[in-house]
This record gives sequence, C-alpha cells and structure tokens, in this order.
Amino acid sequence: MTIIAETPRLAIRNWRPDDLDRFWLLNSDETVMEFFPGRRNREQSAEMMTRLTETIATTGYGFFALERKDDAALIGFVGLARTDLEPALPKGAVEVGWRLLPEYWGSGYATESAQRMLRLGFEERGLPEIVSFAVENNIRSTAVMRRLGMTHAPERDFDHPRIPDTHPHLKRHVHYAMTGDEWRAMHADR
Ligand SMILES: CC(C)(COP(=O)(O)OP(=O)(O)OC[C@H]1O[C@@H](n2cnc3c(N)ncnc32)[C@H](O)[C@@H]1OP(=O)(O)O)[C@@H](O)C(=O)NCCC(=O)NCCS
Repeated sequence: MTIIAETPRLAIRNWRPDDLDRFWLLNSDETVMEFFPGRRNREQSAEMMTRLTETIATTGYGFFALERKDDAALIGFVGLARTDLEPALPKGAVEVGWRLLPEYWGSGYATESAQRMLRLGFEERGLPEIVSFAVENNIRSTAVMRRLGMTHAPERDFDHPRIPDTHPHLKRHVHYAMTGDEWRAMHADR
C-alpha cells in the first residue's frame, strides 16, 4: 500500500482491489450522488478505479483512496486532480475534490484531508493556484471550500460542460480558488 499523505486521523493512499465494493457505493449511493447526473454500476466503478490508478501512477494527480486510520475503513476519496473542463476552466487547472460515504459526514474528515491536499499542492508541488467547484446548492461541499479558506470567485462560476440537458438543475457551478500566496499567508505561523 502506498501512502500519498497522512493527517492525524486519516491516510490518503493508492487504490487497492479490495476497495471496489465501497468505491462502487461511492458512485451509486443516492445521498452521495445527489449532485451528480450519473450512477456507476460495479463494472463501471471497477473501470473507473483502474483509470484512476493509472492516472495517479503516471501523473501523480487524481482522486486517492481515503482511509480512517483507527479502523482502516475506506471512507471515501479526496484528491488533487488536473481538470479537463476547457473552456470553463483553463488548461492545466488543478482542483481539490472529495466524496465521502454518508456515515462519515459530520466529523471533519473532508476538510482535514483536503487541507493536506492543499499543502501537497502548494508546499510540495509549488502550484500557483488550486480551484474547487460544485453545483451551486451543494452547500456541504462549498462549506468545505470555505473552511479551507478558499474564496468564491463569482465571475468564474460556470455551466458544467459535461452535465447533460436532462439535468439542468445540476449545470450551474460555483468556482472557489486559493493561490499559493494566500496559502502561505494563512499558514505563515507554522
Ligand atoms: C461534501 C462532503 C464531503 C462534506 O462532508 P462533511 O462531513 O459535511 O464535511 P467535513 O468532513 O469537512 O465535516 C464538517 C462537519 O463535521 C463537523 N465536525 C465534527 N467533528 C469535527 C472535527 N474534529 N473537525 C472538524 N469538523 C468536525 C463540523 O462541525 C461540520 O459539521 P456541520 O456539517 O454540522 O457544519 C460530503 O457531504 C459528501 O461526500 N457529499 C457527497 C459528494 C459530493 O457532493 N462531493 C463534492 C462534489 S463537488
């Protein structure tokens, strides 16, 4: 098992074959997927896990498995990922993103792990900016962005190019961002 990063309560690691059932749940549970148009079955989830594993191995970016240390439970995923949403987002933009199984909501795990991803991006990889985006009424997700110290940039809000017309209520996305300078100013006392 390769650990990408750790926090006091969490390990951010590469995917393992035995993660598949929980990864499938993350892609199909109605509560988790409220703000996404599609659901993936087990086979599609397996294909996605393979793609994620390859992307992580070749680029170092992607969505990683998120494990709670005290019981080794896979609780969701978190990551720093290169976006592919031109022209809504510029080429090369890097997003921080998260998805947890509902039984693990309300404990601060998304914020704790995403904070570690920002540190990886700004301090270890020297990124100039990290963005995050969500359907505008996904308030749990935008609350994570605000807890991280990211700022809403309304002029950069966008209609997600891959949301089909069958789901117009999921198109509008709010855009949050943080620059490396803002990160360093926030963490200058460390
Ligand atoms: C978005 C998502 C990850 C947010 O999960 P979350 O549990 O609300 O966020 P956190 O893990 O940061 O936890 C924060 C909550 O834990 C509470 N908390 C409890 N113990 C805590 C601790 N030790 N440290 C920090 N917060 C703690 C906070 O007070 C906060 O509670 P609140 O929701 O009542 O305000 C989750 O709702 C999710 O997976 N949604 C579905 C997928 C999704 O939409 N992903 C984003 C797509 S853009």
